[in-house]
Amino acid sequence: MELTVNGTVHEVDVEDDMPLLWVLRDELGITGPKYGCGIAQCGACTVHVDGLAVRSCQLRAADVNGNVTTIEGLGTPEALHVVQAAWVEHQVAQCGYCQSGQIMQAASFLDLNPDPTDDQIDAAMSGNLCRCGTYPRIRAAVHSAAARLRGA
Ligand code: FES
Ligand code: FES
Repeated sequence: MELTVNGTVHEVDVEDDMPLLWVLRDELGITGPKYGCGIAQCGACTVHVDGLAVRSCQLRAADVNGNVTTIEGLGTPEALHVVQAAWVEHQVAQCGYCQSGQIMQAASFLDLNPDPTDDQIDAAMSGNLCRCGTYPRIRAAVHSAAARLRGA
């Protein structure tokens, strides 16, 4: 099958039922998206398909209909995405394992709602678990990114 990831078209020869996460990590060597639960309950594997956050552990690669973006394609070290810059500003990460999923979820959410309340942030991010408990910093960083997006 053909898969466009971070702007590059890849030809991959995999079983029809292989989840996108496995294709990204094991076939393409794109390891930003992480395996946490494998059952769409933790958010560690979150990537975008045409800008919308999806759980790549539960999406068959064969069913992907759009361009995939992973944390590797969201920004660059020289030009961070606004959410990545806010994450740095607030020093959100602790162990870091959940954070690529958190950032991808936040970026997709802010595209839809650039002026969120605390409750809206908590609801949008509630499917992304963090065993290190970085939730207060995640919320602060999402507010900060939202302000930047609004030009505030
Ligand atoms: S690994 Fe996909 S949601 Fe947990
Ligand atoms: S930073 Fe460690 S699990 Fe979230």
